[in-house]
Amino acid sequence: MTAALPPVAIAENLRVSYGKTVAVTDVSLAAIPGEILAFVGPSGCGKSTVLRCFNRLNDLVAQARVEGQVYLHGVPIYAPEVDPVAVRQQVGMVFQRPNPFPKSIFDNVAFGLRLGRPLPKSELSQRVEQALRQAALWEEVKDKLHQSALTLSGGQQQRLCLARAIAVQPQLLLLDEPCSALDPLSTERIEHLLRELKPALAIVLVTHNLAQAVRVADKTAFFNVEAGCGRLVEWGPTATLFAQPVHPATAAYTRGQFG
Ligand SMILES: Nc1ncnc2c1ncn2[C@@H]1O[C@H](COP(=O)(O)OP(=O)(O)OP(=O)(O)O)[C@@H](O)[C@H]1O
Ligand SMILES: [Mg+2]
Repeated sequence: MTAALPPVAIAENLRVSYGKTVAVTDVSLAAIPGEILAFVGPSGCGKSTVLRCFNRLNDLVAQARVEGQVYLHGVPIYAPEVDPVAVRQQVGMVFQRPNPFPKSIFDNVAFGLRLGRPLPKSELSQRVEQALRQAALWEEVKDKLHQSALTLSGGQQQRLCLARAIAVQPQLLLLDEPCSALDPLSTERIEHLLRELKPALAIVLVTHNLAQAVRVADKTAFFNVEAGCGRLVEWGPTATLFAQPVHPATAAYTRGQFG
């Protein structure tokens, strides 16, 4: 059913360089609503670099240069007239290390909502509660919403970051190894949440954990370093990529022969 929906985001012939060095090239793929797309591949193959193209976060990285195009709902986000701040407001992002702001739990989740059109207090509280419920954190924090977010455990902080990212109801959610600093139970909770969230949006998930890609991703993209440069080798339905990869490097990587 979802396959018929138009993609939320399309990357077209992306190439990203840092200074004179091309970090990753030949990247064309699409993220579809209702699906999780995983990026896998050895360290340094450009997964994070490509992920940062989807919300123009590389604009903030010194010396980074992006060629090619990314379309968000058909809008070319690297067109000169596009405001990168407006792009970032439409795209949620969660990083490897939980990075709550040094503010209260409530203010963390309300942060993005307060950047948009002003909401009545009751609606703001309701949206914060809804995001915390979706991130399966509400029951643990409902009596201490005004406590500092830094007092939460690592797993709770990561769910808070997820709540902060989804509070603005983005249609694209970018996750860069969101579970790599978490214990197995917290990881399982995040994976469960991603499955619950995905009907409403497109998710791109960078992971070093191949078993995680198999568990949660509808599609998987395999990146590799070839001749000193990151490349998208192939991408498609996760089951096909793992069972019938087209390229020998994909087969070797998914069998754990390097990485
Ligand atoms: N800010 C930067 N300045 C210069 N080079 C960079 C920068 N960020 C990344 N690179 C280089 O770009 C290439 C791709 O890096 P990137 O972080 O995207 O890889 P990755 O696949 O996410 O790796 P990992 O799995 O270790 O997170 C690497 O060669 C890296 O050294
Ligand atoms: Mg990375």
